[in-house]
Amino acid sequence: MKTTISLSTPSQLETEALVTIVLDHSEGPKNKGAKPQLAVETTDASVKPPAADLLASGEMTGKPFETNLLHKPAGLKAKRLLLISGGAAKKFSSYDLRRMAGAALRTLKARGIRSFAFIAPPCIPAEEAVRAIVEGALVGNFDPDYYRSDRKDQKIDALTILASGNSDKDALEKAAIESQIIGESQNFTRDLVNEPSNRMTPTTLADRAKKMCQEVGLKCEVYGADKIKELKMGAFWGVAQGSDEPPALVVMRYEPAGAPEKPVLGLVGKGITFDTGGISIKPADGMEKMKYDMAGGATMIGAMRAIALLKPKVKVIGIVCATENMPSGKAQKPGDVQIAMSGKSIEIINTDAEGRLVLADGLFYARQLGCTHLVDAATLTGAVVVALGYANAGVFANDEAMYERFHEANAEAGEKMWRLPLDDEYKENIKSTIADIVNAGPRWAGAVNAAMFLKEFAEDTPWIHLDIAGTAWTEDQKPWIAKGPTGIALRSLVEFVKSFAS
Ligand code: BES
Ligand code: MN
Ligand code: ZN
Repeated sequence: MKTTISLSTPSQLETEALVTIVLDHSEGPKNKGAKPQLAVETTDASVKPPAADLLASGEMTGKPFETNLLHKPAGLKAKRLLLISGGAAKKFSSYDLRRMAGAALRTLKARGIRSFAFIAPPCIPAEEAVRAIVEGALVGNFDPDYYRSDRKDQKIDALTILASGNSDKDALEKAAIESQIIGESQNFTRDLVNEPSNRMTPTTLADRAKKMCQEVGLKCEVYGADKIKELKMGAFWGVAQGSDEPPALVVMRYEPAGAPEKPVLGLVGKGITFDTGGISIKPADGMEKMKYDMAGGATMIGAMRAIALLKPKVKVIGIVCATENMPSGKAQKPGDVQIAMSGKSIEIINTDAEGRLVLADGLFYARQLGCTHLVDAATLTGAVVVALGYANAGVFANDEAMYERFHEANAEAGEKMWRLPLDDEYKENIKSTIADIVNAGPRWAGAVNAAMFLKEFAEDTPWIHLDIAGTAWTEDQKPWIAKGPTGIALRSLVEFVKSFAS
């Protein structure tokens, strides 16, 4: 999708469709009879008359995502005018704008329209608005129906963003380019996550990472079973040993000239290309979804792509631990004891708690490679879905300064995440009689127990853990996003990395 910034007057722009946000300025509760007071969010007075009758008709409720498409709008050079409600003016933020941009794009693309112009609402600072519109539009432009014979591939090719005439065009163009890199990287991740496990084996995932690294100029090493064993990654290998598909340990390095020696940021992703549960096998119902158990790894590959193109002056190492989790005659069994790379012994209570095993060695390895700060992303637990549902990813941190920094980046990126605790009290839950720790504790606090396990391997290195099991995939199609992989966490990670460069 080509993105252009324009400072022209919206009514004078020739386009297939001009999109404008409509906000509700009414005060007071709706249930007490307050009528919506709808107004088009633009300073161009000429855009208002063609929408006036519709807004006055009472046909629009002003609820978020309500759309109306007017053809041949009088007084405009645009062929169509798309009105999209953003809800209450008082509450409207760039978080909403991002979604409105995605929804507008999806409305238009379903009609076979290939290009449109979006009026940046003046209530949001111009640069912030540009970022939200570009990122939101790119999220909307993705559809997962790759293997359908009737795939229409109706992508929008060109987006023009109309900002007010007195904006700094260079700054807005820079923002648009950066957001385009981020949005495209997010879709790159979604492409990887979308692939079924027969077409996205650990080897394929590593190949895709290698190809990406070549394209953007990153160093990339891919190691197989021999190296995993040589490094004594007993936890990672314990999972990998059960599968006929060879595992892959992917190491991507971004070392820009002029970056200081420290910090070195480590991004570690869970790359289980299919999670059957292993010998502690999962029920058949819904198991097909476990192809997305590599979403954390795919997120790190996409984040490294964005970082390589954005070029912040900070060193970053991306690590993906990729393997299937399969039952077989060679598979590890409940009760087995594995020795992790760090030397800690792990009693395997449940072979379905495999993500924390591969990450244990991934995190420790990242520290060995010199990482001073760690972030991992993983579809780690069903329990985080019980705790937070599908709206928020779980965030865990062992360091307050690290958490604050991440939280800020996260707010900037407009992704919903919620912090969960890591108190010492929970350590009880991962005690083992035979070994140092168990890989699966009781059902209660399941997401915390998993994070407590990882904490054993991050030790005193400042570390953030993102449990994206409930948010990496959306089961419902939303106005702004298709059903399927979401690419959650990539934007926050990129913002977080950028925060170290300034
Ligand atoms: N990959 C799953 C977690 C998951 C669940 C991801 C739902 C996406 C959606 C993970 O490997 C797993 O199986 N976790 C177990 C841990 C348990 C055995 C301690 C779980 O959550 O049930
Ligand atoms: Mn599992
Ligand atoms: Zn898993």
